[in-house]
Amino acid sequence: MIEQDLVGKVIVVTGANSGIGFEASKNFARRGAEVVMVGRDETRMLAAVKQIEAGTGSNKIVMELADFSSLASVRELGERLQTNYASIDVLCNNAGGANAGRQLTDEGFELTFFTNHLSGFLLSRMLLPQLLNQAKHGEARIVFTSSLGHKNSPIDFDNLNLDKSYSTLKAYGRSKLMNLLTAREYHRRYGQQNLISSSFHPGAVRTAIWGKGGLIARLIGIIMYPFMWSVEKGADTFIWLAASGDEAARNAQGDYFFDRRKVRIAEFATDEAAEKLWQVSEEMIAPYLR
Ligand SMILES: NC(=O)c1ccc[n+]([C@@H]2O[C@H](COP(=O)([O-])OP(=O)(O)OC[C@H]3O[C@@H](n4cnc5c(N)ncnc54)[C@H](OP(=O)(O)O)[C@@H]3O)[C@@H](O)[C@H]2O)c1
Repeated sequence: MIEQDLVGKVIVVTGANSGIGFEASKNFARRGAEVVMVGRDETRMLAAVKQIEAGTGSNKIVMELADFSSLASVRELGERLQTNYASIDVLCNNAGGANAGRQLTDEGFELTFFTNHLSGFLLSRMLLPQLLNQAKHGEARIVFTSSLGHKNSPIDFDNLNLDKSYSTLKAYGRSKLMNLLTAREYHRRYGQQNLISSSFHPGAVRTAIWGKGGLIARLIGIIMYPFMWSVEKGADTFIWLAASGDEAARNAQGDYFFDRRKVRIAEFATDEAAEKLWQVSEEMIAPYLR
């Protein structure tokens, strides 16, 4: 299939130094986009940027550092991008991971919730004017990396911080449900303004994520390894949703995809949950928008 040229487009990718975020960044760079690669660790980021520059010949990669366990750090990132870009074509909210035990961030919240949902929510909110500005001239896109794991657990809004009960699967699954719901709510709120929103499950993919979530994740990773998809295949739907001219991708309407197809979502992934999550998340990030 012929890939569209992306010259002139600005694409922001979080979690860009590794896994499917790295693979997607490489694809966008090869096709001529200005790719803003976001990650938390300078050494890992420099290595990733260099590798993509060498492999694609791109001189349009911008490296940005931010720690998604800190809203203060994400706010600084958002401010830098607001200053540097009047418009943004695509925002890929991809950074994420699983955590073995319940950990609190410096700002006092459960780590998985922050890293996988609230930080991306704040960044998206801060870059919304840039996305809508681009959408006025055609379209802009916002893509959320969700997971089949979103089916693990509904959201208990009285226990957002998981202080009543914690399990890795619950914390991770719930955060991925939040990604899916946020994509849905973006469509409801901004779809009419040509902001194309979507989420997807990349498949079970051979990335570093399996080594970062504690013993059980490592064991699952080892057992499943032979059956997992390659990073290239895992990034395919991501790249397609973010940058394909296909009508099906451009018509995403806040939907959740796997292998380029709309697929069934958990029955508790309702419009009501999406709206409530939006309101609660807005309240939580409000101090960082002032
Ligand atoms: N692999 C799978 O089978 C699978 C399945 C379903 C969904 N997913 C989703 O796919 C997305 C990408 O994961 P991946 O599989 O490509 O794994 P990965 O290689 O571990 O990539 C995760 C990325 O997120 C970044 N990240 C994690 N915590 C962060 C923080 N506090 N601040 C800033 N960046 C942070 C990581 O940075 P570091 O390198 O510094 O840790 C890395 O760049 C995740 O959202 C994951 O939930 C993956």
